[in-house]
Amino acid sequence: MCGIVGYTGKDLALPIILGALERLEYRGYDSAGVALIEDGKLIIEKKAGKLRELVKALWGKNYKAKIGIGHTRWATHGSPTDQNAHPHTDQKRQFAVVHNGIIENYIELREELKREGVSFYSDTDTEVIAHLIARNYEGDLLDAVQRTIQKLKGAFAFAVITVHEPERIVCAKSGSPLIVGLGEGENFLASDIPAILPYTRKVIVLDDGEIADITPEGVNVYNFSGEPVSKDVMITPWNIVSAEKSGFKHFMLKEIYEQPKALNDTIKGFFSTEGTIPFSLKDFRRVLIVACGTSYHAGLVGKYWIERFANVPVEVVYASEFRYGHFPVGEKDLVIGISQSGETIDTKFALQSAKERGAFTVGLVNVVGSAIDRESDFTLYTHAGPEIGVAATKTFSAQLAVLYALGARESKEREELYALLRGVPALVESALELSEGVEKVADKYTKAKDFLYLGRYLSYPIALEGALKLKEISYIHAEGYPAGEMKHGPIALIDESMPVMLVAPKDRVYEKMLSNLEEILARKGKVISVGFVNDDVLKKKSRDFMPVPEVHETLTPFVTIIPLQLFAYHIASKLGLDVDQPRNLAKTVTVE
Ligand code: G6P
Repeated sequence: MCGIVGYTGKDLALPIILGALERLEYRGYDSAGVALIEDGKLIIEKKAGKLRELVKALWGKNYKAKIGIGHTRWATHGSPTDQNAHPHTDQKRQFAVVHNGIIENYIELREELKREGVSFYSDTDTEVIAHLIARNYEGDLLDAVQRTIQKLKGAFAFAVITVHEPERIVCAKSGSPLIVGLGEGENFLASDIPAILPYTRKVIVLDDGEIADITPEGVNVYNFSGEPVSKDVMITPWNIVSAEKSGFKHFMLKEIYEQPKALNDTIKGFFSTEGTIPFSLKDFRRVLIVACGTSYHAGLVGKYWIERFANVPVEVVYASEFRYGHFPVGEKDLVIGISQSGETIDTKFALQSAKERGAFTVGLVNVVGSAIDRESDFTLYTHAGPEIGVAATKTFSAQLAVLYALGARESKEREELYALLRGVPALVESALELSEGVEKVADKYTKAKDFLYLGRYLSYPIALEGALKLKEISYIHAEGYPAGEMKHGPIALIDESMPVMLVAPKDRVYEKMLSNLEEILARKGKVISVGFVNDDVLKKKSRDFMPVPEVHETLTPFVTIIPLQLFAYHIASKLGLDVDQPRNLAKTVTVE
């Protein structure tokens, strides 16, 4: 994971790099560092902890450098210490490297370098890159990088600067994401687009096996064999406002409130490109959805819709399980990989393996130009704008919208379903308004140690997602379960200390949910429920009630997820936790 950034141009590099790192911090936040070149010397500043620790350490140091690279880390090799923080250098401190990924053969390379007399100061896999580049350098940084790459195995994106060529940055990509931003008399590189949005919207997305040679005057791209590659320049539709908090306390809260817009843009986007979708779900014997985390939960909801609307069987599999399992997949299957980032390695590999076996692959991503976007046979997009909070919210809703539309497209009632979908942004707006009281409910449960989240049918994946949100950001144990399975195990957990969250909109399983509610009350469980605003029965029987607007029974996930996201948010916020950057997690998971 990790985020990398680079700048070479006419302005002071340090503030640009620190700002970019702030916008990349969602990728990892165990430590951060920068390398600058000033008066022919390499300056390295790095610190364990969040970026603010580095900023504190830099207080009062007015570096004048106009070139630099930066890094925010999610530790893989080596604990998060000052020493293991990037950038890493060669022994003479003439080359500095920042890296995102894993060099799989680093032990072998390290031993080889040690035999040649190199001594190592960190436990990272990255340090070998700095030493190798220094050894391969004969006056041309590009050439040294080309030669170094031949020795590296694994997934990586790295950038290097050297005191010998103080205006030049060379970066290379194989597996991990990397983009180049084009400015006037200045150029940038970063792991992701939001990092550079204040400066430019002109972006080159590097492909695997490419190297970019960046100076203030221009950017040249080559393949790993050294041949020039001509690249398209993309103008990103994202802007800097979408990558800032705009008065909200946290990105997560802002993104929860952005859901009506994210849905609106996604639904419009789907309808405007619907005619280009080159397949019918009915052409396939089966749809297989592969995804991780929140995207997996969106897939589970999508299964109910696609099976109901299109009558095509759907299987939803964790991408990490698909890859090493024995799922029979072939030409008759449509495989949809759902991924907000489009970079999650498990999902990417699962799609690659399905493609190799002849399946037609479709990516459903939020990031245009991401690996899954480029490698799938076809891509569907969510238009949720950049999502910075590590816990996914608006991209989940947007994924739901595309899956609903995709299923509805095959139904005899297509026009009615499309009309229902068009009304979803307004319904979500009113769900947000009705959720004003969620903060007060959350107040009562900050001391709870465990939660059970129950739902049936379309509300089952919503229970899973609600529980995941709570776990991720509040560190409270929460388990999502299909309510019908309660009697086969979880009921043993219920007593007066166990809060149970029931997702119970009035749908085809509502009566069954009421029976579950009685079973919980009989065992003195504390019930918090999510239900339609006018559901007096549910309200009366529950200790706490979180209302959502009454909607058509196929639309319940869009509204029931709203109070659950806010419930998790307010608990974590009241506990004083870092909502946007929960411990141990990262937004884009590019390790297996
Ligand atoms: C990480 C994030 C989750 C996300 C999952 C899948 O675990 O913390 O929020 O749901 O990755 O990410 P993707 O980008 O593939 O949707």
